[in-house]
Amino acid sequence: MISYDACLMTHRIAVIGGDGIGPEVTVEALKVIRAVGVDITTTDFDLGGARYLRDGEILSDATLNQLRGFDAILLGAVGTPDVPPGLIERGLLLKMRFELDLYINQRPFIGTAPGHTEAHDFVVIRENTEGPYVGEGGVLRKGTLNEVATQGSVNTRMGVERCIRYAFELASSRARKHVTLVHKTNVLTFAGDLWQRAFDIVAAEYPNVGTAYNHVDAACIYFVQDPQRYDVIVTDNLFGDILTDLGGAVSGGIGLASSANLNPARTGPSMFEPVHGSAPDIVGTGRANPTAAILSAALMLDFLGESAAADRVRAACADPVSGSTSQIADSIAAKLAR
Ligand code: IPM
Ligand code: MN
Repeated sequence: MISYDACLMTHRIAVIGGDGIGPEVTVEALKVIRAVGVDITTTDFDLGGARYLRDGEILSDATLNQLRGFDAILLGAVGTPDVPPGLIERGLLLKMRFELDLYINQRPFIGTAPGHTEAHDFVVIRENTEGPYVGEGGVLRKGTLNEVATQGSVNTRMGVERCIRYAFELASSRARKHVTLVHKTNVLTFAGDLWQRAFDIVAAEYPNVGTAYNHVDAACIYFVQDPQRYDVIVTDNLFGDILTDLGGAVSGGIGLASSANLNPARTGPSMFEPVHGSAPDIVGTGRANPTAAILSAALMLDFLGESAAADRVRAACADPVSGSTSQIADSIAAKLAR
C-alpha cells in the first residue's frame, strides 16, 4: 500500500519532448533525475511540429488544461523545418508562457568566458510575458510599396514590478547581493522610464542589495569583456532573449545553457527547458549535449523543493565530459548513483 506521505512526495511531471533533439535530451534528463533519487511520475505529451503536421494540434485549450494539473513541465525543444517559422514557437512555447503566467524566465550562467582566467556566476531574470512578445501591432497595405508594419512593446507596471521584485528576492539570497537593470532607457524612453522607476522603488525596499544600470548595448560588451561584474541581471523579454544567447556563448556554449519559466505565484505548473533549439541537423546522431536539459531539470528540482538533489545534479555536471548524448548522461548519472 502506498502511504499518503509517499503520494505527496511524488512529483507529477508533464514531459514534452518535442521535435528534433528535444526527445533525445529529455530522456537523458529524466534518467539523471531518477539517478539522483527524486520520486517522479511522468506523463508524455506529444506536442510540437511533428504532432502539428500529423493532426493540426499545436496546443489546444483542452491540452493546456490538462497541463495545468501537473507539478511541473519538462520541455525538450520544439520546431521543425517542415512547419513555417514561428507557428509552433508562438502557438506552443509562448502560449504556455502567457497562459500559465510563467512571468519569470530565469537563466543562470556559470563559466569562464573565452580569454578569461576567472569564472563568472550570474543569473539573468528575463520578463517572460510582456514586451514585444505579446504581438501588439499590425500591418497595413501588405505587399505594396506603401506597406506599414508596427510592432509595439507592452510594459505594465504590475508585470515589470513583479519581475524586478523577483530579481531582488533572488539577489538577497545570493552571496553578492547585487542587481543590474539592463534596458535602453536613452532611446526607449517610455518603457525605459517605467522600468527605471519601478526598479528604483523596489530597490528602496532592499537596502542590503546593491544596484547598477547598464544600457543593453554596453551590457553586450561587458558580457564578453567583464562578465564577473554581474550577479543578478533583470531585463525585458526581448533584451533578455538576446542577452541570454550571448550569456550561453560566453559560458561554455549553448549546450550547457538551462532555463526555468517560472510562475512564482504557483497558480499553476512552471516549465523547464534548455535554451537551445531542436537542432534538426544533428537529430539521431548522438551529438546533442544533454547537459542543458539536465541542468534545466535541476532548476525544476529546485522549484519542486528538492534543492539538495538539484545541487548534487549540478555538481555532477560541473566537470564537462565528452561522448555521445547518452554517454554524457550516463557518466553524470553514475556520479549520482547511491
Ligand atoms: C528562447 C527562444 C524563444 C524566445 C523562441 C523559440 C520563441 O529563443 O526561449 O529564448 O524567443 O523566447
Ligand atoms: Mn532565445
